Amino acid sequence: MNVDIGNALASVASPGVSREALESLDDQVAAAHERIEAGMDAGEHGYEALNLPERTETDEIRLAADRVTGPETSAIVTVGIGGSALGAATITDALNGEEDPEAIYLDNVDPEWLTSELARLDLETTVVNVVSRSGTTAETLANFLVVREAFESAGVDWTERTIVTTGESGPLRDLADRHDLPSLTVPDGVPGRFSALSAVGMVAAAVCGHDLDALLEGAAAEAETLTGSLFECPAYAYGATAYALDARGAGINAMMPYAEALETYAEWFAQLWAESLGKDDLGQTPVRALGATDQHSQLQLYRAGPRDKLVTFVSVEETADCEIPSTEVDDLAYLGDATLGELLDAEFEATEASLAAAGRPSVRVEIERVDEFELGGLLYGMEAACVLAGELYGVNTFEQPAVEWAKKATRGLLGGGEFEEAEAVAEKTELR
Ligand code: PA5
Repeated sequence: MNVDIGNALASVASPGVSREALESLDDQVAAAHERIEAGMDAGEHGYEALNLPERTETDEIRLAADRVTGPETSAIVTVGIGGSALGAATITDALNGEEDPEAIYLDNVDPEWLTSELARLDLETTVVNVVSRSGTTAETLANFLVVREAFESAGVDWTERTIVTTGESGPLRDLADRHDLPSLTVPDGVPGRFSALSAVGMVAAAVCGHDLDALLEGAAAEAETLTGSLFECPAYAYGATAYALDARGAGINAMMPYAEALETYAEWFAQLWAESLGKDDLGQTPVRALGATDQHSQLQLYRAGPRDKLVTFVSVEETADCEIPSTEVDDLAYLGDATLGELLDAEFEATEASLAAAGRPSVRVEIERVDEFELGGLLYGMEAACVLAGELYGVNTFEQPAVEWAKKATRGLLGGGEFEEAEAVAEKTELR
């Protein structure tokens, strides 16, 4: 990926960061890079995620996926939530074509939605992919039990078409062992939201026939660019600029890809940024946007609202294109001379320029096309940007105590164990 920070500089934007400020921040980037490299070399928790391009065994993932997939497979239902769903969803939503099995993600425990999703599937030709690092997440386990029962009610053997990805031990591992299900292990030291380039994110892609090696090659190429200077490394340029802008008042980061295929990527980014950096009263609030759609809603706020935002564009150089048919109405003749791709490019250029003209900071992230290689690079680059930002903030990027608190409270409230978090909720409820 390429990163252009020109429209985030103090000479054009407020808040903005001056070249001199970035130069002095670069010493901290160099120190952070050393820390990151040391963490990667030692395989430390979290930093290990940046080793995935060389550690992930794609053959193992493909073999496990092959055990449940056949030429007739019409859908793959991934049951998982947060980091156990968003990486996989980003990949299949970006890459799936009409011929591929439909990739569905059951994360929420909304009964009406879940039952209607299940009702529309042909379970005879559906594959189930259950993913939970801990193997204890209530939403995932509950949804899986509902899915399993739906298969049983339809007289379909779920054990023949279910694949499990989880930790070395835990309730989900026990279940996989008990039924001899094909299973993969979440690599040690890789937190959920950093696991897109492991089995967690790749089983669904394998079932859909995507090139897992190319995903890792793109990520590896991005890893090669990690050096001790933000002026030489696109990922660090992004992480350091976002951090510097936050320190200057841009506490909101709107991620706005200009490609429908990358809509879920914005959701993945929002989780990565929020759950990794939102600690110790610090962190930038990520917002999901989509170009050109959100030009007709959020752009007004971004250009004329409070000066508390960075807009991050993702632009895609090459896309399939479609001619706009000519028309008999003179005022619309300009459209007939263009393609939809040219219109989308014009929308992007116009939005970027309109923010710059109003002195609002933006960063442009460029990828060549939406394919496995480029997507692998984008995911890896943003993970590295996030790890760098975490070092600059001085937070523990790889933990998520607030998320864990709520997970324990939920389980405790349902009688799934004795947790002080559940008692705290019960006490608060009694006070009402
Ligand atoms: O990034 C994280 O750690 C979380 O978002 C988890 O991925 C999420 O809570 C799901 O956890 P698990 O994979 O243990 O079911």
